[in-house]
Amino acid sequence: MTLRLSVIGTGYLGATHAACMSSLGFEVVGIDTDPAKVALLSQGKVPFYEPELEDLLAKEIASGRLTFTTDINAVADCDVHFICVGTPQKAGSLAADLTYVDASLDAVARVTKKGALVVGKSTVPVGTAARLRARLQDINPDADLAWNPEFLREGFAVDDTLRPNRLVVGVTSDAAENILKEVYASNLKDGTPWVRADLPTAELVKVAANSFLATKISFINAMAEICEAAGGDVTVLAQAIGYDPRIGNRFLQAGIGFGGGCLPKDIRAFMARAQELGADQALEFLREIDSINLRARQRVIELVRKDLGEDLKGKRVAVLGAAFKPDSDDVRDSPALDIAAQIHAAGAQVVIFDPKANESAAKRFPALTYASSSEECLKSADIVLHLTEWKQFRDLDPVKLKGLVKNPIIIDGRNALNRESWKAAGWHFRALGRADN
Ligand code: UDX
Repeated sequence: MTLRLSVIGTGYLGATHAACMSSLGFEVVGIDTDPAKVALLSQGKVPFYEPELEDLLAKEIASGRLTFTTDINAVADCDVHFICVGTPQKAGSLAADLTYVDASLDAVARVTKKGALVVGKSTVPVGTAARLRARLQDINPDADLAWNPEFLREGFAVDDTLRPNRLVVGVTSDAAENILKEVYASNLKDGTPWVRADLPTAELVKVAANSFLATKISFINAMAEICEAAGGDVTVLAQAIGYDPRIGNRFLQAGIGFGGGCLPKDIRAFMARAQELGADQALEFLREIDSINLRARQRVIELVRKDLGEDLKGKRVAVLGAAFKPDSDDVRDSPALDIAAQIHAAGAQVVIFDPKANESAAKRFPALTYASSSEECLKSADIVLHLTEWKQFRDLDPVKLKGLVKNPIIIDGRNALNRESWKAAGWHFRALGRADN
């Protein structure tokens, strides 16, 4: 008989997981405490921007296999429950806030049938799974718990869920592993690498992977600082070191650094957990990774002051991009929006345009001005900042745009624009980590 699945928490991770599991033929019920979110998802609408997801969701709702509700009792006869709730950074601390994970576990434990498997997917501090497993079995001795970290990237969420580059399962029994093999049978058939681990290792794989990615980005941004000081070009340096297959050329894009709902908070929570474990020295380097990352934002602001003078009052600054990365409307810990807000706080008039994130940015920073096109954004600008590398920004025509601005100065915060064509059109072009700043 086909397994019945539940997905607790229908944010990025949960909504995508629910729709993808349904597309594989499972009956799936998605649970969220937010009635507005449940109402939208039930109509096949996604409350955030994620390519491909809305089409898939609508199709799966129409198939009848996928439903959403706020009623936890609806999961009572599911065989597998995926916990996909958020673990944000705790206010006033580096640590992760586990309130939602704990509440979900308790809720599922109380209603689930005997023999069910609870599978954690949220990113948690190591040790959480063992604690939750004990708690689950206190309430429901016949249930078991496994950990199955998720590595999906925003903007590629559907593809990463349906075609992950590896599956990691933290289990304490063959029975639990076998249930997960049934869930992921189609991936196994396709040859997706399968890693069986114990609970702490499975939890650690996720934060280790994100720490490594953050380190790669901060490494190249540190090289960008050196290139600026020494008159080098970080884009050429990245290309050259990237040809070494041991280094690889991905995640070596220098610029204003990493943001989003994962990398920044995951490395901080990892440091906080290491300290609790008495192993803080091992992750001391992540503090530096975080500082390098935040410094990149200040370097852009310094470049703006270099051009417009120390006093930014009354200057019009056009900002292209607000999302933490392209193909997303997510502005959580977005370097682009942070820079825009800091420049606004310094007295400049900041006008932002993002193809998808204007609305989410305006919710966070209503005092900034939002334009509905690149052209409107650039009108009469004293300086232009390119801060999120949407394809449509790469395709802009620097010749046409020059006629709109007051001063043709652009800072490419993502090293993604074609410097030569902007320069040829008469722009003063600056970029992080490249000579002639
Ligand atoms: C990340 C991980 O990639 C994913 O595996 C995990 O499940 C969740 O966290 P995501 O937050 O979607 O995914 O973003 P990612 O594509 O990793 O980019 C993170 C940030 O790094 C973005 O702000 C991006 O602009 C920045 N970045 C990325 C760089 O500055 N340079 C690069 O070379 C790559």
